[in-house]
Amino acid sequence: MVVLGIETSCDDTAASVVRREGDGGCKILSDEVWTDHGDHAAFGGVVPEIAARSHVERLDVTIEKAIGASGLSFDDIDAIAATAGPGLVGGVMVGLTTAKAICLAHSKPLLAINHLEGHALSARMTEAAGFPYLLLLISGGHTQLIWVAGLADYRRLGTTIDDAAGEAFDKTAKLLGLGQPGGPRIEAAAVTGRADRYDFPKPLARRAGCDFSFSGLKTAVREAAQSMAAPSQTDIADIAASFQFAAARHLAQRTERAMEMAPAKDEPRRLVIAGGVAANSVIKSMLSSVCECNGWTLIAPPPKYCTDNGAMIAWAGAERLAAGMAPPITEALSLAPRARWPLAPPPEGAEIGGGRKGPKA
Ligand code: KG4
Ligand code: ZN
Repeated sequence: MVVLGIETSCDDTAASVVRREGDGGCKILSDEVWTDHGDHAAFGGVVPEIAARSHVERLDVTIEKAIGASGLSFDDIDAIAATAGPGLVGGVMVGLTTAKAICLAHSKPLLAINHLEGHALSARMTEAAGFPYLLLLISGGHTQLIWVAGLADYRRLGTTIDDAAGEAFDKTAKLLGLGQPGGPRIEAAAVTGRADRYDFPKPLARRAGCDFSFSGLKTAVREAAQSMAAPSQTDIADIAASFQFAAARHLAQRTERAMEMAPAKDEPRRLVIAGGVAANSVIKSMLSSVCECNGWTLIAPPPKYCTDNGAMIAWAGAERLAAGMAPPITEALSLAPRARWPLAPPPEGAEIGGGRKGPKA
């Protein structure tokens, strides 16, 4: 089963061809991502209109490259999968409309994919991540703990009540003058810094459950940075390292709570991480310790499949296609792009968390 995947929900224009083997394995035949953060740099974050226009200019070339690199032609492709939300709606519209046009022209099924499902299933492309598993989804727009019982069977255990983890990294980087995208720059700056110089807060330490909060951390970082007239490179490195440590500790502590709340207690107990922030090595190593202490296995996809990519969208499409979930073409063609689209319903009685204020939302 061969699927072309298209991803345009934020600033990356991505297309990929993947094959789902008969045994459920995945072969990524091509994976093209056009990332150009330069266009947005002057504005200090992703500008929706700039992103949408650049998707219009680049998507056809990116798809052509993905098909070419796969060594296949449109005739060999069984279906097209495209991100239909959540995300910057202008960009989602470009990707979904392009996918609809290709489906019409080539008479192929269309799978409208929830971007978060793409992240949720991404580890299954490269790792032995059988269902069920606990998913820690940490990206620029979302921070959630989800119980993944099976394909299309997701239950939310926790979410952020304010900022997303990636948003906190991006805002901290902006504050420290490190530029965007913030996550990798904070990680690089923190290498030479002292993580114990600042004792940043432990958010929601006394609150039950496994929700997250990053806004207090952000304020503490701002106060630390503004307490100095002209922070030196060492000061910046120390703040970056202390912030990264506090963010990692918060993610690890809440994940440990979710392990206690996870419905299935049977072996094997797997924690899968996904989303751009899952590329962070300090976060990964702290989660790895939590897993070790609690008898869980950490499954982390390679960093290039943690950040946004077309392969995860193609793969989610392939999994759905294999499960017979492709809708009739008339239904698929009438699907609208969605700026908001929760992957899993909140637990009963829980408030709907935030984390949707950033550029990635
Ligand atoms: O999953 P993603 O590519 O896009 C969304 O769907 O949001 O995640 C992007 C986010 C950005 O906030 C970026 O700063 C963060 O992931 N990120 C990182 C790292 N690499 C990317 N955060 C921390 N450490 C990293 N190495
Ligand atoms: Zn994403």
